[in-house]
Amino acid sequence: MVSLAETTAVVTGGGGGIGGGTSRLFAAAGATVVLNDIDAELAESAVADIEADGGTAVAVVGDIREASTVEELHATATEVAGGAVDVLVNNVGDYRPNGLFAETDEEQWAAQYEIQLHHVFRCTRTFLPAMQERGRGVIINVSTVEAFRGVPHNSAYSAFNAGVSAFTRSLAVEVGRDGIRVNCIAPDMADTLQTPGDSMLRGRDPQLIRSWIPLGRWGQPLDYAKVMLFLAGDLSSFMTGNTLMVDGGTMAASGWYGRASGSGWTNLPDQP
Ligand SMILES: NC(=O)c1ccc[n+]([C@@H]2O[C@H](COP(=O)([O-])OP(=O)(O)OC[C@H]3O[C@@H](n4cnc5c(N)ncnc54)[C@H](O)[C@@H]3O)[C@@H](O)[C@H]2O)c1
Repeated sequence: MVSLAETTAVVTGGGGGIGGGTSRLFAAAGATVVLNDIDAELAESAVADIEADGGTAVAVVGDIREASTVEELHATATEVAGGAVDVLVNNVGDYRPNGLFAETDEEQWAAQYEIQLHHVFRCTRTFLPAMQERGRGVIINVSTVEAFRGVPHNSAYSAFNAGVSAFTRSLAVEVGRDGIRVNCIAPDMADTLQTPGDSMLRGRDPQLIRSWIPLGRWGQPLDYAKVMLFLAGDLSSFMTGNTLMVDGGTMAASGWYGRASGSGWTNLPDQP
């Protein structure tokens, strides 16, 4: 396994879902984890799991959209690290659909900006100078496949997450010479608090999962966390500016769906 020994890693939304899997996996790999979460129970249970496993973690409970939370997270993590943190994971985001674009309003777009992109700028801007001063660091952002393909009912979500990936590329170019790598993952089909597998199925035949996802199953938090561990550690030492799809193959399949019967594929969903 990749070792993150002697490493301090910050994970936003690190209590549950993909962030929760990432906090736990990074700690298991030897990192001291400073996790932020808006939900105190999720944050505490992640810390308890990590400690029970012999790892070290500290929680900073608060809404990452608030500047005061980012400041507290930065102060705590800097103290824990004894200087610059090694890894920053900007994980928080929210898929909940806004509805048809023609029916959305300025308030919803502003809220989308706050939850998808603004805190990514703010956290990065806050943690970056110490990484630059030390000449080393890793930043990992979390976007979505829907930054790369169209999604109805969530145009602003898609646009701001495309921003997360574009920010990743441009920042990577700017800070490469400072010894800092910036990469991103684009998840799909995660069985998490935000998108539980059961609610995606809504009582339908579980065999349908193999028609939606080439790998034939939901993604679990660990599936995404493992890719972030790769991006955090030395195995990806010559990679920067990338967004990696972590989606069980949905982007590759694009408009193609496996027949639920198991007999081949179709791009015409109304055909049996
Ligand atoms: N679930 C998916 O299929 C999917 C698909 C594409 C992209 N993503 C992206 O992956 C990331 C994680 O998603 P997830 O499915 O694990 O979500 P989740 O809702 O399961 O977990 C999010 C975690 O962040 C915390 N959180 C939420 N809002 C917060 C805030 N304002 N401040 C601090 N903590 C906050 C939650 O309490 C929770 O612990 C998000 O950026 C999401 O957009 C998820």
